[in-house]
Amino acid sequence: MESSLKISVSADDTGDRQKREEPAGMDEGYRVGLAASGREFRYSGEGEGTLLRFLERRHVAIEYQCRSGYCGACRCRLAKGVVAYLTKPLAFVGEGNILPCCCIPAGDIELDI
Ligand code: FES
Repeated sequence: MESSLKISVSADDTGDRQKREEPAGMDEGYRVGLAASGREFRYSGEGEGTLLRFLERRHVAIEYQCRSGYCGACRCRLAKGVVAYLTKPLAFVGEGNILPCCCIPAGDIELDI
């Protein structure tokens, strides 16, 4: 599935380690909620990268290995919402699960992490 969002995913966007947890109520982008902790962030689209990258920048602990949709290590449950895959994952993605390493939010989402 192709995304309708315009984003850029660059290989060198690994340097930003500042905590960027935004308050709820911002009116741009999509809400990304984390059910276990109750934390929530705002995915603004441009420059945010994959959902995995987005979460890492906000210091959310999430497993990963290949970062390309091959291994399934990043698999997590999507409690609410829809994501769009930037590349078709090769790893198995069961009903209700997503691979954050190769997708982006396609609306407000909530993850069971
Ligand atoms: S890290 Fe391997 S599928 Fe996401």
